[in-house]
Amino acid sequence: MAMTTTSTPVQFTEAELKLLQALVYQECGMHFDERRTHFLQDRLQRRLKECQLDSFYSYYRLLISHAGKEELARLLENLTINETSFFRNKAQLELFQKHILEDLVQKKHAAGDHLIRIWSAGCSTGQEPYTIAMQVADVLAYFNLRNPPPYELPSPKPLIPPPWRVEVLASDISYSALRAGQQGVYSEHQMGTVDYSYRLRYFDKVGERYAIKKSLRELVHFDFHNLKTEFLPQRNDVIFCRNVMMYFDEAEQKRLVEKFWRCINPGGYLLVGHAESLLGLTQKFVMVHRNNGTAYQQVEVAG
Ligand SMILES: C[S@@+](CC[C@H](N)C(=O)[O-])C[C@H]1O[C@@H](n2cnc3c(N)ncnc32)[C@H](O)[C@@H]1O
Repeated sequence: MAMTTTSTPVQFTEAELKLLQALVYQECGMHFDERRTHFLQDRLQRRLKECQLDSFYSYYRLLISHAGKEELARLLENLTINETSFFRNKAQLELFQKHILEDLVQKKHAAGDHLIRIWSAGCSTGQEPYTIAMQVADVLAYFNLRNPPPYELPSPKPLIPPPWRVEVLASDISYSALRAGQQGVYSEHQMGTVDYSYRLRYFDKVGERYAIKKSLRELVHFDFHNLKTEFLPQRNDVIFCRNVMMYFDEAEQKRLVEKFWRCINPGGYLLVGHAESLLGLTQKFVMVHRNNGTAYQQVEVAG
């Protein structure tokens, strides 16, 4: 293995960067166009230094070798943008809670189906799936208040009133983000968008930080899923895939939306980021828009 002898960062040719771009695209769908070459170059330099390699050639050879699987995962992790926050895009979450969830709960209850399954695809460090879990817990508590069951609930009252079951699947390509999500402990700064009533009900203060309460944490299951692959979690009532597709090119976005269509229960919903849209990507979803919040409802199509 070639070792670096100097601290001067290795420079890459255009052809080398193109080769790496193609590999990253093939592995995870992220598209690095000219505007993001600098970022790619910087992260690549960091990885070479970390691996103590002094040429692109030796690094690339490592990446494509069987032994290089771990390094490839590490590289991808270094290329992802994990920016996220609790209650991100409030208008959309209001649409989710007041329209989509309330409607879903009514319909499921009438059909005797009490399982709610929501997938946060590209969940980063967990703020999105925990926000979803808080909203679902609130909607079910309110539904129960209006429709009390004909039997006594166990004491202390469970967060999710039976017979309801809630599964929030949180997936990402970054192992370190998944680990942080699983831990569910957040700084005061990260809690900036969490108001008083949510803090009181769903968090414990641990020193200077806030930990998600166990009862809420148990609703969220973190798992690795690369959205580029074909086998993705099925039978979801709602999929959140926010601020992920913006790093993919149009061809990859189209493929992903097609896969999501198959992963959503009939009439279910797909929620994408504020700066993203399904316009021009598919005819298999219709847009729902309320008070500045947007979601896409899956429609049945013949054939
Ligand atoms: C900007 S964050 C968005 C987090 C959250 N959805 C939100 O809107 O706040 C994008 C996340 O997508 C993940 N990601 C990027 N490409 C992915 C892929 N191919 N499969 C799964 N996750 C991916 C990144 O690791 C990152 O955590």
